[in-house]
Amino acid sequence: MCSGGRSWRIGLALLLTLCIHVDCNPRVPRVSGAGGDARRDGVAMEDHPQHRAPPPLWDVHSLSYRQYCGKAPETPEIPGLRPPDPMQRMQAGLLVHKDPIFCSRRLTAAVVLGNTVLFVVIMAASCYVHGKALLLLRQLRRCPAQAVELESLYENTQCTPQTITFSRLCYYVKTSSGKRKAILSDVSGYCAPGSLVSIMGPSGSGKTTLLNLLSGRAKFGEYSGQLKLNACTYPVNKYRALMKQQGYVLQTDYFLEDLTVRQTMDFAAAMKLPCKSPEARHSIVCRLLNRCGLESAAHNLIGGVTFKGISGGQRRRLSIAEQLLVSPSILLLDEPTSGLDGTSSLKLVRLLKGFARRGHTIVTTIHQPRPEIMAIFTHLMLLATGGHVAYFGAAEDAVGYLVRTEAVTPVPGANPGDVIIDALDLDPESDRRGAEPVDLAAVYCTSPQASATTRAIRTLCADLEERGCVPVSAKRQQHLCNAMVVLLARRLARKYSPQNRVKALLNGGQVVLVSAVLALCFMYDCSNKFGEAYKQMMFIILAASYVCIVQYLISVPELFSERQVLNKERESGDYRFVSYLLMTMSTESPRAVLHTVIVLAMGWLLVGIDSDGPKVLAQTAMFVWTAMSFQALMCFISFCTDNSGLAYSVIFLVVGIGCVTNGLLIEYENVFFAIQWAYYGCIQSYLLRVSVLINMLSNPALQIDCNELSTVIQTLRHRTNRTHALQEATVWHDVCFAEGGDRKSFDAGALTLAMMGWSDGWFVTSFLIVGVHLVVCRALTLLLMSLRTYLSFKLHEIPRDVEEGSRSPAHVEEGPSAAPGASADQVLLTMEARSPPSPISETPPTSP
Ligand SMILES: Nc1ncnc2c1ncn2[C@@H]1O[C@H](COP(=O)(O)OP(=O)(O)O)[C@@H](O)[C@H]1O
Ligand SMILES: [Mg+2]
Repeated sequence: MCSGGRSWRIGLALLLTLCIHVDCNPRVPRVSGAGGDARRDGVAMEDHPQHRAPPPLWDVHSLSYRQYCGKAPETPEIPGLRPPDPMQRMQAGLLVHKDPIFCSRRLTAAVVLGNTVLFVVIMAASCYVHGKALLLLRQLRRCPAQAVELESLYENTQCTPQTITFSRLCYYVKTSSGKRKAILSDVSGYCAPGSLVSIMGPSGSGKTTLLNLLSGRAKFGEYSGQLKLNACTYPVNKYRALMKQQGYVLQTDYFLEDLTVRQTMDFAAAMKLPCKSPEARHSIVCRLLNRCGLESAAHNLIGGVTFKGISGGQRRRLSIAEQLLVSPSILLLDEPTSGLDGTSSLKLVRLLKGFARRGHTIVTTIHQPRPEIMAIFTHLMLLATGGHVAYFGAAEDAVGYLVRTEAVTPVPGANPGDVIIDALDLDPESDRRGAEPVDLAAVYCTSPQASATTRAIRTLCADLEERGCVPVSAKRQQHLCNAMVVLLARRLARKYSPQNRVKALLNGGQVVLVSAVLALCFMYDCSNKFGEAYKQMMFIILAASYVCIVQYLISVPELFSERQVLNKERESGDYRFVSYLLMTMSTESPRAVLHTVIVLAMGWLLVGIDSDGPKVLAQTAMFVWTAMSFQALMCFISFCTDNSGLAYSVIFLVVGIGCVTNGLLIEYENVFFAIQWAYYGCIQSYLLRVSVLINMLSNPALQIDCNELSTVIQTLRHRTNRTHALQEATVWHDVCFAEGGDRKSFDAGALTLAMMGWSDGWFVTSFLIVGVHLVVCRALTLLLMSLRTYLSFKLHEIPRDVEEGSRSPAHVEEGPSAAPGASADQVLLTMEARSPPSPISETPPTSP
């Protein structure tokens, strides 16, 4: 309680010190309005009362803070604070609009405290996560390069046996013309623990689509049929969540190109195996690298578009090794041997076979494997063009079956893989070794092989049900903080990797360099105080714009370089987006502080902007807060699209509009009406306005006396286009003499702004708006990503009777003995008449 009360008083005192010191008192109405009207109406200067009597508000000596704010303060004046100089308050009053919040001490204190607490929390969290991330990096560096002893990869890898069964699975997508296109048609099969199932078929036959459906990753389209995990049917979302804990090797490899193979595995292990000790993780990583033949490339960079790294085959193996980290019960692999030489492919498939022997369920798609590899597979599914099954059964019987159907003629020594793919090709022109093209899909529909598959599925399911449905639990999400630490450690490892050190140095150096160049450009001496005021104002405008731009230049490429990996890891359920978002915030926030301090320090040292203590604090706070808020906006825009070019353009537009419409470069009234919203809508506008006001008002370096003011008026008289400035200066001159002539000193900064016809002074309100903007943008980013995830999953189950053109293969045992080659429609009609209604809709979801 006691400390709470103290912070309250400290916060209030700090804010009042800042606000009163910069003389932002808003009570006095804007006198320059008349001048503005006159200027707009084209009234000549001579027509204006140059020596008009000061309006009643000039009687500022009797005003107190209480009267300025229009109501009595609830607490007495804080002793020790410098009372505001009435004259300066008047000058500020000429410029400053009433700050809606500043007039309430309670609100003011709440804003300052709220923003301060938020800032402290962000920075404290950032320090904590940075500390943990550095610790993790140290741990990873300390682990020996080689595991002391390479035990068998399979030792101690326990898994719950998992069986996938699928019957009459159909999958449709909508084409651009709005028609429904069947990608998979009545696909039935099973993948049991211990089996190594291979899916083969020509390109475009639906292998990847089938794997996506089995892994719960099919995002859109419509499906029908039965898909069971351990004989249990689950709703789509539940099935997807359950399958997230299983392994899936994508057809395309996505990695962060500036990490080494070892680092990639180390960070993946830290993410996927949070409960294991660093030593245990390291041992698993080393064994996997060894098993996947990546030991020699462990310290090679992955590379990619910008530079060449490991080979394509090594990338494939790394993808597999990454998925094997968790020793998944089910491992689905999409063309794992693509890009590998024959020997490496064989080794890899042997590795998979080893996993299968220990009870893992392995399903892989493959293209024309060598005979030794074919001999390793336990089951084979052949997919014909159009997503029809041409064969499912024992791999060793596949060629025999094709020979029986007369789709191939036996050629001694021929590669079974080639024979199979040739048999699936219906093109009469292709080399078929003397055999005629056979529609294998149609033949399979009515073959005993299909019946055997159906029986096998039923037996498997019955067996599993008898033993009781093996409960499957969903993947445990990585703890938010752990995920943040690993993500940050990975980012730091990339950023400060030997090859990126120069880049990091240049990135940091560029801020120092650009700030120095900027400050040097404004280091010149001015002949009068108005020139000085103008110079400082221009420096502040450029510095504020630069601080925002530099965030954009550094953060946006960072976000986009991680996008594909982020998508891959989120799909695998490694962490939630909120961890990533908080991680970006904790890296970007200290950067905003650093950049601000560098830029402003140059200004204080070289340009001579006001370095008065409270002003320094207020200026820095506004800069940092706006930079952080701007980072949040950029993050939001970056996640609105996956098109980096579009994001760059939109952010550039936002920066540009904010810089132009702030009311300093162009008066608010002159801004094209369609973009006037940006005056209040762009947060950099607040930074520019508030920073300029903080610096210009009551700046000791910008004090002038009445004589200097007279000289200015003389100069302005010869500039017919500066009637408004002349009028302002004249009014001030009058006040000067009304106040006692040349003993008065004037604030040239305030007058410069008044002469520009510029007015705005929402100090506290701006601070609040920037803070709220920060929170809202981060929250919106989170909401956006949740929405995008939610909307991207548009997979619908359709009732069986709505389907069109499917040829049903899986219920032949109860159906007609249609002759091989019977038309698909004939088979379909008979099948539909006899087959039981779609079980998927009847089977109640069994909770695991
Ligand atoms: N969203 C989609 N819209 C239209 N066609 C699609 C879509 N997704 C896949 N396809 C088509 O489905 C077929 C099977 O694709 P895929 O499963 O990737 O084939 P495979 O992995 O066997 O090469 C291809 O002809 C492909 O063009
Ligand atoms: Mg594919």
